[in-house]
Amino acid sequence: MTNCSRVWCILISVASIITAVIVVCVYYTNPSDPSFTINEFYVSALNLSDISSTTTTANQTIFFDMKVHNKNKVMGTYYDPVRITFSYIPNIKLTFVVAEYTVPKFYQDNQKSKHVRETVATRGIAPFNRTVTTSVFKVEVFTKVGFTSPAYRKKESMDVVANVRVGQTGEKDSDKGIKLFESAGVDDRVGMQTGLLILSMATMLVII
Ligand SMILES: *[C@@H]1O[C@H](CO)[C@@H](O)[C@H](O)[C@H]1NC(C)=O
Ligand SMILES: *[C@@H]1O[C@H](CO)[C@@H](O)[C@H](O)[C@H]1NC(C)=O
Ligand SMILES: *[C@@H]1O[C@H](CO)[C@@H](O)[C@H](O)[C@H]1NC(C)=O
Repeated sequence: MTNCSRVWCILISVASIITAVIVVCVYYTNPSDPSFTINEFYVSALNLSDISSTTTTANQTIFFDMKVHNKNKVMGTYYDPVRITFSYIPNIKLTFVVAEYTVPKFYQDNQKSKHVRETVATRGIAPFNRTVTTSVFKVEVFTKVGFTSPAYRKKESMDVVANVRVGQTGEKDSDKGIKLFESAGVDDRVGMQTGLLILSMATMLVII
């Protein structure tokens, strides 16, 4: 091996280590989006043991408990108003938006949780077919979130969604919380992260 190629080897190793460190730093300072989890869900009109659910005086409300969690270790989160929409999907061909609820904008400290527990009025839910054992609701959350870190202060859109299955008791059919997931669209923050990486690589090339 010539002296020259040895120098190159050392340079490339050093460069790789620096890149790795930068990657790790960028990765760990990138904030995580908050999580939204449906812990409780009750649709009175679908409680088949409640006789009044068959009548026009059926209680047309949805009760829900949604946990909003900021999992970041060092960053607080700013939320724009959190808009929740509930759609009833009585069968695969039909979807009706039946209720909406908005949580006013708020701030949440790092690693804190907030429970939104509300009873919302709906536009009417009738059991589609009383022999069907489960009904499906779509819960969608739209908001914008920003973080206390100066690089991520600007609020970015979030749109997460999940289906909640309701049994013949009118309650969510599983005991586990249901986490909402990104429905569509690109995460702008990934773009920003890639940009930072390219920038740091370019800087290193210049240094070399
Ligand atoms: C369903 O309705 C029955 C009869 O009114 C009631 O006893 C029961 O508590 C209801 N279920 C839930 C989960 O509230
Ligand atoms: C409808 O049900 C909800 C939740 O179970 C309850 O809070 C509310 O008081 C009920 N409304 C009526 C009119 O019974
Ligand atoms: C209700 O659902 C059951 C089971 O899926 C089905 O056999 C029945 O035909 C349905 N009834 C109506 C009126 O759609």
